Amino acid sequence: MSEIRIYPDPVLRKMSSPLKIIDSKAKKMIDDMTMIMYSYKGIGLAAPQIGISRQVIVVSSEHGLITLINPEIFESEGENTGEEGCLSLPEVSVNVSRSSNVMVKGVDLAEKEVEFEASGLLARVFQHEIDHLEGRLILDRLSRLKRGLIKSRLKKRSKL
Ligand code: NI
Repeated sequence: MSEIRIYPDPVLRKMSSPLKIIDSKAKKMIDDMTMIMYSYKGIGLAAPQIGISRQVIVVSSEHGLITLINPEIFESEGENTGEEGCLSLPEVSVNVSRSSNVMVKGVDLAEKEVEFEASGLLARVFQHEIDHLEGRLILDRLSRLKRGLIKSRLKKRSKL
């Protein structure tokens, strides 16, 4: 099983490229992501978090596991602030403002085009994971002051 990449690992800052062929190697990567997400009790994981710059996310929703390849938010509305954590930023928990409703499209494991209409927590998770594919972390969604405080705390910890 791959390991989870922790901030400030540079792979977390890279732009991911689309996954064009869903072959056995890609499926193995997705299995890996799913196992890691469940073993860390996460509710979402993006491929860069296991060191692979590809546009793939897995989300554990109340309707079951969602695997979305080349996901894209094509509509969003409303605004809502809620607490978020990230497996790549252990022990960090911050309030992040997001769209409250989103429409997301992508491709599933069977290479079929799929669409999801999400609100509440699911909408938040989609936005968080899709941010990862663009090299964005929850730190980037904070005010400059708050971001500075958390970064210096993380820096101190990595020196211990
Ligand atoms: Ni995350």
